[in-house]
Amino acid sequence: MGRKPDHTSIMLEEMLEYFGAIEMRTFVDGTLGAGGHALAILESHSELECLVGIDQDPLARSLSAERLEMFSSKVRIIEGNYRDMKDLTADLGLTQVDGIFLDIGVSSMQLDRAEKGFSFRRDGPLDMRMDPDNPLTAEEIVNSWPEKELQKLIRDYGEENKWRQISQGIVEKRKHMRIQRTSELADLIQEISPPFPGQRTHPATKVFQALRIVVNGELDALEKGLHQAIDLLSPGGRLGVITFHSLEDRIVKTVFREKSGRGQVVGFGTDAELNRQKLVKVLTKKPLLPSLKEQKVNRRSRSAKLRFVEKL
Ligand SMILES: C[S@@+](CC[C@H](N)C(=O)[O-])C[C@H]1O[C@@H](n2cnc3c(N)ncnc32)[C@H](O)[C@@H]1O
Repeated sequence: MGRKPDHTSIMLEEMLEYFGAIEMRTFVDGTLGAGGHALAILESHSELECLVGIDQDPLARSLSAERLEMFSSKVRIIEGNYRDMKDLTADLGLTQVDGIFLDIGVSSMQLDRAEKGFSFRRDGPLDMRMDPDNPLTAEEIVNSWPEKELQKLIRDYGEENKWRQISQGIVEKRKHMRIQRTSELADLIQEISPPFPGQRTHPATKVFQALRIVVNGELDALEKGLHQAIDLLSPGGRLGVITFHSLEDRIVKTVFREKSGRGQVVGFGTDAELNRQKLVKVLTKKPLLPSLKEQKVNRRSRSAKLRFVEKL
């Protein structure tokens, strides 16, 4: 028996319901993680011949390999970024797939590993890379980006109201010492922005989230990945995406709208026609949200939003 990964998959039932309506021979899980969604798909779609699981984190790949072992003849786990999904699947001889799923962001396993540097609760190096080959770390950003860039990062990606004070505090602190540990950054933010009575989230939550998004190029990967996924789907195939951040959900909503022929028309003639091209049908006019029961049991699920499209 493999180790049981400490990650609870979000909105499993809703995902199964939307994929349950179609037959799928091929499936791509672009954010394999602990393999929870992938396992549920394999268990409920006996017609499935091949499930490709992509993850950029080696630990996620090894944990999910153990968890999916009983389906190993159908599963291909590959190292890579889902933004390159078409090339990655083409290498396996797949040019179309029937189902694609993305569950954006970090897993609980990544948050729990102090050495990855994602957590303000566990001291570790200020790293935050999901892909160990990525040259950019959170330490690099915090210690060398100009104040204006830090302000922009904290305001736009963290949606943190105290972006000005926190950026200024970081720049002051780094004049005296290099900020290298997650605890050093978390303590500094807590000093600048102490929690108000009854506050349940740590004051550093939003800044850590912003750094993680930028270190891993998450918004860019999402936008590129959505275009790739829609291209890769077979007619009648479905794509589902879970996001945890309003910026991410906005990207999903906008790309889905554009690809369903309701995007803004820019340019004239052929360009305008291209923008009006109807490639998918949106199946979720509003995003699906986790049930109250799930929100109670798993606090991490509270900000989740799930959207689905079907390829025409
Ligand atoms: C929230 S977890 C997925 C959990 C999974 N659905 C489950 O049920 O166990 C997200 C995973 O996606 C991976 N990931 C995030 N962005 C990625 C990207 N652009 N390309 C490949 N993997 C990515 C992370 O390393 C992490 O393991």
